[in-house]
Amino acid sequence: MSEATITVLPGDGVGPEVSAQAVKALRAVEKRYGHTFTLHEGLVGLDAIAAEGSAISDATFETCAQSDAILFGAVGALPAAEHRADGPRPEQALFRLRKEFGFFANLRPVRPAEALYEASSLKPECLKGADMVFVRELSAGLYYGHMETVPGKPSEIRQRGGRTEAVDTLLYTEEEIERVVRVAFDIAAGRRARVTSVDKANVLSSSVLWRQVVDRVAADHPGVTHEHMLVDACAMRLIRTPAEFDVIVTENLFGDILTDEASMLTGSIGMLPSASLGVRRTAGGRFGLYEPVHGSAPDIAGQDAANPVGAVLSAALLLRHSLGLEREAAAVEEAVEDVMRDGYRVPDLHDEGCTVVGTEEFGRLIVHRLEARP
Ligand code: NAI
Ligand code: MG
Repeated sequence: MSEATITVLPGDGVGPEVSAQAVKALRAVEKRYGHTFTLHEGLVGLDAIAAEGSAISDATFETCAQSDAILFGAVGALPAAEHRADGPRPEQALFRLRKEFGFFANLRPVRPAEALYEASSLKPECLKGADMVFVRELSAGLYYGHMETVPGKPSEIRQRGGRTEAVDTLLYTEEEIERVVRVAFDIAAGRRARVTSVDKANVLSSSVLWRQVVDRVAADHPGVTHEHMLVDACAMRLIRTPAEFDVIVTENLFGDILTDEASMLTGSIGMLPSASLGVRRTAGGRFGLYEPVHGSAPDIAGQDAANPVGAVLSAALLLRHSLGLEREAAAVEEAVEDVMRDGYRVPDLHDEGCTVVGTEEFGRLIVHRLEARP
């Protein structure tokens, strides 16, 4: 039996609706497998701005720091009338958490559910067996200079020699590459033992270093095979033969683009979970932040219509990567698949012959499957 402390930050829009289903799944796991999870709920986003003056207060941040993991809903969508250029914005909550906790590895598993093959833009026979995990570098690379100008990593529009020019810097240290590549090999060791490292080594120096580091880390993992793939080739193969991939590790920008491409294999943005892992270790793995890939979806908020699968699968990732509870994580994933195989759908995936249910009911069905497990 495990004990763990989890901070739940539901946030804005559909965030509270989908987080509530993830919490229900965690409570069901706690009961079914005899663990003790202490859950603290905190304000982030619009409610935090209204009540505390910032998107995440120091007190809430400290609660997160004392936890084994953070379960996050979504933040966003300040009403246009309240928007002030210099005022606090809901997204600042996420930026602060990412930055101060040093989350450097962003995991996005993409496993199209067989029951949803028809909802994908690819032919069912292409999707058969597709089950991959992206490990995207999250803390460095081309995006790094975006929010502040770091000496030696310029990201700016400037005047030079009477002309206007713009510069961004793609800079990686060996350490930054190595720590994310190690996460990828560790994950592959627990899966089909195959790492695809994606780069652009035919033109970028940072990719040449990236390959060297990958080869060196690979030497420590004799049980895991690895290959290098150019990013343009990878973009093609993801939609041609997605089943060939197991774990894909890549730098920040490439990962941003490739994960959006791959996400479409699953049929809806509401299906996708994510994990952001940092350097701090927990008893069962790494401290991390877990959230669905989608945003606050203000267009469907408050209608009991949001797909809770991304949030519930994020709770499964939390069990796996921060608490070290692999069997429980797999149980949640299987419960979600069972509900879909039984023909239940949330409105974003409604299909002929299926039973359309709301967010709450879909969450209840998942709990029911978890409770019924042998
Ligand atoms: P979004 O992901 O909120 O919505 C895009 C579209 O997908 C909408 O049509 C929405 O109804 C649909 N959708 C999203 N989640 C769904 C779910 N669970 N079930 C069914 N349909 C779903 O992205 P959008 O509209 O660009 O952004 C809305 C707000 O969310 C913005 O303020 C944005 O900044 C914020 N945002 C926050 C993120 C986060 O908290 N990590 C990530 C992305 C956006
Ligand atoms: Mg993106």
